[in-house]
Amino acid sequence: MRFQDKAALITGGASGIGAATARLMVAEGARVVVADLNETAGHALVGDLGADRAEFLRCDVGEREQVEAMVKAAHKRFGRLDILFNNAGIGCFGETPDLDPEVWAKVIAIDLNSVFYACRIAIPLMRQAGGGVIINTASISGLAGDYGFTAYNAAKGAVINYTRALAIDHAKDNIRVNALCPGLIDTPLTAVAKQMAGVLDVWLDAIPMKRAGTPEEMAKVVAFLASDDASYVTGTIMVADGGKTAATGQPDLKRFMTSA
Ligand SMILES: NC(=O)c1ccc[n+]([C@@H]2O[C@H](COP(=O)([O-])OP(=O)(O)OC[C@H]3O[C@@H](n4cnc5c(N)ncnc54)[C@H](O)[C@@H]3O)[C@@H](O)[C@H]2O)c1
Repeated sequence: MRFQDKAALITGGASGIGAATARLMVAEGARVVVADLNETAGHALVGDLGADRAEFLRCDVGEREQVEAMVKAAHKRFGRLDILFNNAGIGCFGETPDLDPEVWAKVIAIDLNSVFYACRIAIPLMRQAGGGVIINTASISGLAGDYGFTAYNAAKGAVINYTRALAIDHAKDNIRVNALCPGLIDTPLTAVAKQMAGVLDVWLDAIPMKRAGTPEEMAKVVAFLASDDASYVTGTIMVADGGKTAATGQPDLKRFMTSA
């Protein structure tokens, strides 16, 4: 029960990593506000979690006014805000010459600006309460480039360094800030790409653990970072990717060696 008497706000909380985190935090005593664009999934999740433990808020995190209202409403709902999990995100395919600037702006707004909008309102509230915890979902796509994922790479890379800047600025306020960098996780976000012919085999082969991660595995990492178990952890970029980024990408020569 690491989150007894704690209140959390989770963006992108209706699905995947966010929903698994909401379930785990509630199971460990938290009250959560689930913020998402997807009202059907959000209401269904909150129905499961119980109205006394959870509330759904519709919010487009790419819109500054909506994010500001979301943070204030979440704080008001449970009278406190101990944990902010900035997790909502979208991907988009497109090499630079072909990428519509409006699409670029949308990805940056949802994946990056949203984190700033939420932190800008949440930090003074946390500071006033004596502290808090912020976790930002970045990605291993913020650590290196993916072919054709320019806007996503740019946004997630910025989330990583913004996390470090937040962590050092607000250590004095007793606010810890860390980032999660998932590798390939089984969620609706990756479902379409994995269905392309041959993609899943190549993708899994590049992961030393030879499998995708689950939302529940990510939720456990987030819960650690959000809990007092991580009381001396701030400014960390926590990679959870089955070993993917530990490899250089050079081939496993052993596979090509004959036994003779
Ligand atoms: N699944 C992966 O392999 C993977 C890998 C690395 C990073 N991530 C990151 O993890 C985070 C969560 O993704 P997921 O895999 O759980 O995906 P998901 O699609 O299951 O969940 C994302 C949620 O965000 C919501 N959302 C999208 N745009 C929104 C907006 N403008 N405002 C509010 N909510 C919005 C969606 O409705 C959805 O419920 C994202 O930031 C994603 O970039 C995922």
